[in-house]
This record gives sequence, C-alpha cells and structure tokens, in this order.
Amino acid sequence: MQKLVIEGGTPLFGEIITQGAKNAVLPVLAACVLCEGKVTLRNCPCISDRYASARILSALGAKVTADGTHLSADCSVLSSDDICSSLMKTMRSSIIFMGALLGRTGKCTLCYPGGCDLGPRPIDMHISAMRKMGAVISDEYGVISCTAPEGLKGCRHSLSFPSVGATENIMLAAVTAEGETVISNAAREPEICCLGDFLRACGAKISGDGGGRIAIEGVKKLTPPPEPFEIIPDRIAAATYLSCAACAGGELLIRDCAPAHLEAVIPVFEQMGCRLRVFGSNIYIYKKGRLKAADTIRTMVYPGFPTDAQAILMAPLCTAEGTTVFVENIFENRYRHADAMCRMGADIRAEGKVAVVTGVPRLYGTATAAPDLRGGAALVCAALGAAGTTEISGVSYIDRGYEEIERVLAAAGAKISRITEEKQ
Ligand code: EPZ
Repeated sequence: MQKLVIEGGTPLFGEIITQGAKNAVLPVLAACVLCEGKVTLRNCPCISDRYASARILSALGAKVTADGTHLSADCSVLSSDDICSSLMKTMRSSIIFMGALLGRTGKCTLCYPGGCDLGPRPIDMHISAMRKMGAVISDEYGVISCTAPEGLKGCRHSLSFPSVGATENIMLAAVTAEGETVISNAAREPEICCLGDFLRACGAKISGDGGGRIAIEGVKKLTPPPEPFEIIPDRIAAATYLSCAACAGGELLIRDCAPAHLEAVIPVFEQMGCRLRVFGSNIYIYKKGRLKAADTIRTMVYPGFPTDAQAILMAPLCTAEGTTVFVENIFENRYRHADAMCRMGADIRAEGKVAVVTGVPRLYGTATAAPDLRGGAALVCAALGAAGTTEISGVSYIDRGYEEIERVLAAAGAKISRITEEKQ
C-alpha cells in the first residue's frame, strides 16, 4: 500500500511540462483496434489507465511496444474480441472498445466498465446507439455480448446528453460503418477533437467534431497515420498544477499546455487573486497572500467549467476569504473529497448538487485517503498549503491520471514523497 506524505507550507517555484491527456489517449488507444497496421503515438501520459488500455490491446492480440511517452500498437491481426471483466473493471474508458471492436470484427464480449465512483455512470446511451446501428446486444448477469451480423449501418443519433464516452463510442463504430452517421448534441470536449484528428489521420471521413454535430461517412477500412500521432496536453493536469500553486503560494510556469482548453478555469484563478499570464502554450501563475472567494462555480459540459476540475479548484478556495458556492451538474456523487477536506479543517457543506465552501484561515495536515482520481489530486493541492504533515493513501487512484505527481511537485520545491507500507 503506497501513500503520499506532504509537508505543507512551502511555496512552489519552477516549471512543469504538461503531460499528455488521459482522456484523449484512452479513446485513441481504443481506436487503434480499427487500424490494420502499426500505429505510433507520441506524448502518451505514463499513467496507469494508459497501461490498462495497452493490456486490453495486448489481450485482443495487438502487438504493443512503448518507450516512455512513445507507444506503438500493431492491430494487424487480432486474436480475440473478448475483454475479460478484470480488464474492463480497471477504468471507465474500457467501454469504448465496444464501438471499436464492433467496427473492426463485428462482435465483442465485455462487461460493465470500472472508473471512479461518481454516481451510477450507466452506459445506456452507448448500448442504445450501438443497437441503432444494427448491433444485437444482450446483457446477462453483467456480461454484454454484442454482434453485428449484418455489419454496422450509419444512422442519425441525437444524444439526450452530450456524453463524452457515448460520443466517442459512436464515432468509433461509425467510421467503418456502411453509410452516413450524424451525431447531434455530441460532446464538444477537446479530447473528442483529438480523437477526430486521429481518425482523420487514419483515413476516416469525419467532420464537425468540437461542435455539437458530428458527421461521419463510413469507409472500408482505416490505415495507420503516416506520421506518429501526438496526444494533446492534459487540461485537467494543467489545472491541477495551477491549483497546487494557488494552495502553496509561489510561482509556477505550466508549459506545453493548451490554454485555450482552460478558458473556463483560468478566470476562476484570477478571481481568487492569483496572477496569471498566458503566452503561447504556457501559463504562468503567481500567488502570494490570502486568496479571495470566487463567484459560483457551476460544472458544465465543454466549453463550460469542467466537472473534473471541481475538486481541484475547491482546494484553494477552502482557505480563501469569503464563501464560494459549487454546483455539480454532471455527476451525482462528486463531493466525496469534501469530507476529507473537512477533516483538514475546511468548512464545506455539501448536499446534493450544491457545496458551500466557507474559507477558513488555514488547513491542517492529517491522515486521509483519496476517494477517487480528482478528489485525490485535490487533497494533494490542499496538503501543499496546509500546516503540518498530510498522509494520503489510495495513491493508485491518483496514479490513474497523473504521471509521478510527487516527482513533478518535488522538482518545484514541494516537500512530498511516496512511501510504501508493508501490508499488515
Ligand atoms: C468522461 O467520462 C471522462 N472520462 C470523465 O473524466 C469526465 O468527468 C466526463 O467524461 C465528463 O466530462 C474519460 O474520458 C475516460 P459522460 P464519461 O458519458 O464518458 C451520464 C476523470 O476524472 N451518462 O460524459 O463516463 C453519466 O452518468 C474522468 O478524468 C448516462 O446517463 O462521462 C454522467 O452523469 C472522471 N448514460 C453524464 O452522463 C450514458 O450512457 C456524463 O457522463 C453515459 C453517460
């Protein structure tokens, strides 16, 4: 069992290179299944969800090799279209292998995905979209068997909610389906555009990604991009390191991020009283003295304020002067970090969608546990600004989405280390 040990109170100083985006690399890795040939990717984040996806690809018969952030996947020959439950349960993103496998082999057997416990997280929109394209899907005792005996047929989908995963699954199923597919009310996240760029590089006829309406003309097959494909920077990791500076004080230069992907987040740091400068693909942040409360933060689909940054921005606001109201509109159970922050001395009243954060002068270190990926990262931020030592267990949650978070922060002056405790 590993935990992070953080001595708070030391301002940060230095620069951080933004890692590749977790939520971009995962759908691109699933999309490799559609390519008959060797795909090469660059800027793949070294995080456990990426390794989990690579294990799924290998289990399907792909030849996967990697060297740090470079990864190659050769799916010329697939030996299976079944994904065992242990692999499916490692993360949420395993569900989008459904669209890719149906598109490539016309069948697959999988089960409900894993992922952070943020609420029910059903896959009804995924299933109904695949059925609409001609797949026959049975769900017995948690085993989801999918076949497309006549192949997949393009069709018009109007999503009741701009689901990121459902949009990605339909894109993957549609690129080699017969005829045209149109997705209305599609998700607009930058990760959707990254997937669209990858699929176009493979020869897919796809347009409109990033807008609410995506049109796809099915092609016979996809071939690997002629050049290594670059994964976009992780906007939530960038927001996390900005929040580390907002909590600990000091100054950081967040490099090689995509400031345009953070247009809903940057103003909140400025409202708090941080000084930010955006130039090119970099964001400079400086913070000294006590922060101020921000206007109400409502999580929305992109380009609104991202739900994944909700916990991250709550951390610095716990000690800001004044009260900030959060409204979580995307997931039903995404305040699990609030209890842990309260045990550090925060004053957070969370009920249903709403959390009211009344700033206290200081947080205090304690022994705590990461409740999920972003909640765990938020506790790291809070601990950097807290008085005394904080121990955070459940580091495996944090490792799902952040590359060696303790190495990155220690290089910027944080007193943070990772220790391994022998199982009792
Ligand atoms: C993706 O999850 C991200 N994960 C999440 O990031 C992110 O929070 C979320 O999108 C929203 O932006 C990956 O990309 C791997 P959704 P996803 O489908 O696809 C409901 C992180 O921390 N819904 O847009 O699962 C669902 O319950 C993770 O990096 C249905 O009801 O999100 C939720 O309330 C956490 N039926 C809402 O839609 C469905 O069939 C948004 O879910 C699908 C979704």
